[in-house]
Amino acid sequence: MYDGIIITMKKTKLIIITIISALILSACSSTPVAGEIGTEPAVQKPAAGEAPTGSAGYDGSAANVREGDGRTVVGISMPDRLLERWNHDGTFLKEHFEDKGCEVILKYANNLIDTQISDIRSMIDGGADLLVITAVDGAALSSILDKAKSQGIKIIAYDRLLMNSDAVDYYVSYDNYKVGVLQAEYIIAALGLKNSKDSKNIEFVTGDPVDNNARFFYQGAVDTLLPYIENGKLTVPSNQQGFYETSTAQWSTDIAQQRLQIILNSYYPEGVKLDAVLCANDSTALGAARALAADYTGRNNVVVTGQDGDVANIYNILNGSQSMTVYKQLKQESVVTVALGKDIISGNSPSESLIEQSGWDFECNFNTTDYNNGKKVVPSYLLRPIAITADNIQKELFDTGLYVRNSSGLIYAAK
Ligand code: BGC
Repeated sequence: MYDGIIITMKKTKLIIITIISALILSACSSTPVAGEIGTEPAVQKPAAGEAPTGSAGYDGSAANVREGDGRTVVGISMPDRLLERWNHDGTFLKEHFEDKGCEVILKYANNLIDTQISDIRSMIDGGADLLVITAVDGAALSSILDKAKSQGIKIIAYDRLLMNSDAVDYYVSYDNYKVGVLQAEYIIAALGLKNSKDSKNIEFVTGDPVDNNARFFYQGAVDTLLPYIENGKLTVPSNQQGFYETSTAQWSTDIAQQRLQIILNSYYPEGVKLDAVLCANDSTALGAARALAADYTGRNNVVVTGQDGDVANIYNILNGSQSMTVYKQLKQESVVTVALGKDIISGNSPSESLIEQSGWDFECNFNTTDYNNGKKVVPSYLLRPIAITADNIQKELFDTGLYVRNSSGLIYAAK
């Protein structure tokens, strides 16, 4: 009954949107955001006395549903606040959508599937036109996504693919396979594997198996390292090199640390050298650095990879306890998502042309082959990650203003 009312209201809204689409377009298509070119109409701000934008003044309850009033509501569902990046992603997405005149409901799920499902339900009940979702567990949201689709709500999988659902419209991410390739290429160069005569030792600390990205990172790395494992230039003393046996639940720093400590204590007695740890991201790299500091008896500098450019890891790259990170500029991911979201809300089916029209000053590729979620190949916009090392960190991250050091030398990711 309740659902029926919502569906009817939603239909009414869609009809009104169609009739006055030219006017409404300006509700979510105004001030250009960083990285976009061109002048657009002025932002249509909420009228005085109406509910404020953002989750603070808008609890997403049914009482707040305002149908057919020309507003565009975007629900942003993020996995957790523990990892630095999702805090930035949430902030950028919210700001950029609000800059376009959209009303935003932003929620964090504390890494809990049930919380994320109820967050999304409240966004649907709150009149969302578009959902931008980074799943805690990519395969656990099918029913709630079906509900959203049945009400005409558009869905963008943000950074992590939403699995087993034909309700997802688009995927925006970085080239996840390439992330693993960059980590592996760094290891190959740092250990001089191409020309080395002796075998080097490596261990793997991969990501959360319920995150579809984790397998892409792993695959990119393993495909690149496999020739060296096969020709004996790389050895895995623990013999743990499959995806699941090397995975890290919830990308947890503690779990990564504990697993590597067990490996060090079991397979690296004094005299056995560990040359590299392939860590899928920065939270796992932090765990690896702690495990090495606590339990590694060798004196060599172990190569440790990462991904994200979390501030703690930037310090570790500068002090030598982490060798590299794969940097993904989150603002770009948000800019692409907002442009895409805006386009699909207006009833378009964007493709390659979105990239051509946007005139972004960064690389973005439209991909219609690689991201099959089990139900469909999801059209994807993929950005290009870059490798950051002690050698290029100043030029790539500080000179560009992406990170700043304050007068006391403390480092911040710039807003
Ligand atoms: C993201 C990474 C992040 C990891 C842990 C992945 O889906 O692509 O950037 O480090 O999740 O949150």
